[in-house]
Amino acid sequence: MINLRMLAARTVYQVLVHGRSLSDCLPETLTRVRELRDQSFLQAMCYGVCRWYYRLDALAHLLLEKPLKLKDQDIHCLILVGLYQLTEMRVPAHAVLDETVSAAQAFKKPWAKGLVNAVLRSYQRSASELNEKMLQSLVTLYMHPQWIIDQVQKNWLLDWQDILTANNQRPPFALRVNQKQITRERYLEKLTANNMKARIIPETQAGILLEQPVDVQDLPGFLIGEVSVQDGAAQLAAELLELKAGQRVLDMCAAPGGKTAHILELQPDVELVAVDRDEKRLQDVRNNLARLQLLATCISADAGGKEWSDGQLFDRILLDAPCSASGVIRRHPDIKILRRATDIAKLVHEQTRLLNAAWGLLKPGGLLVYATCSIFPEENVAVLQAFLTSHPDATEEMIRMDWGKSCAVGRQILPGMHDMDGFYFARLKRGLN
Ligand SMILES: C[S@@+](CC[C@H](N)C(=O)[O-])C[C@H]1O[C@@H](n2cnc3c(N)ncnc32)[C@H](O)[C@@H]1O
Repeated sequence: MINLRMLAARTVYQVLVHGRSLSDCLPETLTRVRELRDQSFLQAMCYGVCRWYYRLDALAHLLLEKPLKLKDQDIHCLILVGLYQLTEMRVPAHAVLDETVSAAQAFKKPWAKGLVNAVLRSYQRSASELNEKMLQSLVTLYMHPQWIIDQVQKNWLLDWQDILTANNQRPPFALRVNQKQITRERYLEKLTANNMKARIIPETQAGILLEQPVDVQDLPGFLIGEVSVQDGAAQLAAELLELKAGQRVLDMCAAPGGKTAHILELQPDVELVAVDRDEKRLQDVRNNLARLQLLATCISADAGGKEWSDGQLFDRILLDAPCSASGVIRRHPDIKILRRATDIAKLVHEQTRLLNAAWGLLKPGGLLVYATCSIFPEENVAVLQAFLTSHPDATEEMIRMDWGKSCAVGRQILPGMHDMDGFYFARLKRGLN
């Protein structure tokens, strides 16, 4: 039988040593496990270890006499998986020890069995004392790297602890009802009839929060396009475009197409062009649109370049810019491990380049929505302020809503606010001449 702890340790190894994201490497590992229950358990271990990494790694260093060599980092990852089960999962301790220790054998490193066993037993013996130590530094208390803690503290003086705490929660399961097909109220009734507890997300027009996550295939009407999985904050982007029939609309960084589809659900009578530079991810846009029975022109290209455009301008542009994703850490805890402080300046450069390109494609009188799933003002307010200073034909179109926080330009939703992911939105209007 395949050892699930071994698979979890291998996946975590991919993240820690090869810098791959969980959404990239976990799906291929899951295909090796047949039972749905085992898949969920494996997934919970991988996400959990990444979420708790900064505490588990510190514990491992305290428990190991000396750090493991580079070639034995698979065993280090296995120790993290064992510690995670002991600290956070409701798995009986004897099962954790038996299974985790025998995973060392599955790695063909029988010498490591004794080590893994000793480390986990030693944790069990001194758990309260070790856990106490974990409360003494911000890195192990909040389980974030120091640079993210510094950024959040600096920028969100009153909210930094709430933000870091929210980042470590499991994300809620949110849906967007396709109001072209069914009303939100009617869909809620369908969920209730299927014994799925849910409530509306009042800040959105089509959002529903499910009490328990489910397999999408089990959602009523999913296959015929009545509903999509999308966080409530992400649903605000298309709403902010104030779409009208007959408009030409550009979705500049479209994949996997959540917002592309939402635009067409809100206003089917627009001419929509969806651009993304990643052809593989653009295929997800096409698949999503096909399931929802919607149509857009999908173009694989650098949206910041000129080659893909036929020169016709757009009435509405959504720039959902590539960003640090610091607002969605609760959904992608591996971001805490993979992202570097030095990435931010490069991202700001790219965001500015894309915003400049977008401006050249907007009709006079047109409206642009800039969005990121970042909570770092450098990628948000600062990009917009610099743009407004250098573009006299641009004015801010205020977002008059009661969600999130008002910023010097635009509005920010912090992670966990309104049960939503962290997102930033700003709107720019182009002058008529
Ligand atoms: C935040 S995601 C977009 C999410 C998407 N709007 C949605 O709601 O499903 C950012 C996307 O930008 C794309 N991207 C990054 N740089 C780009 C560029 N220069 N041109 C076009 N797409 C780009 C990435 O491939 C990625 O799919």
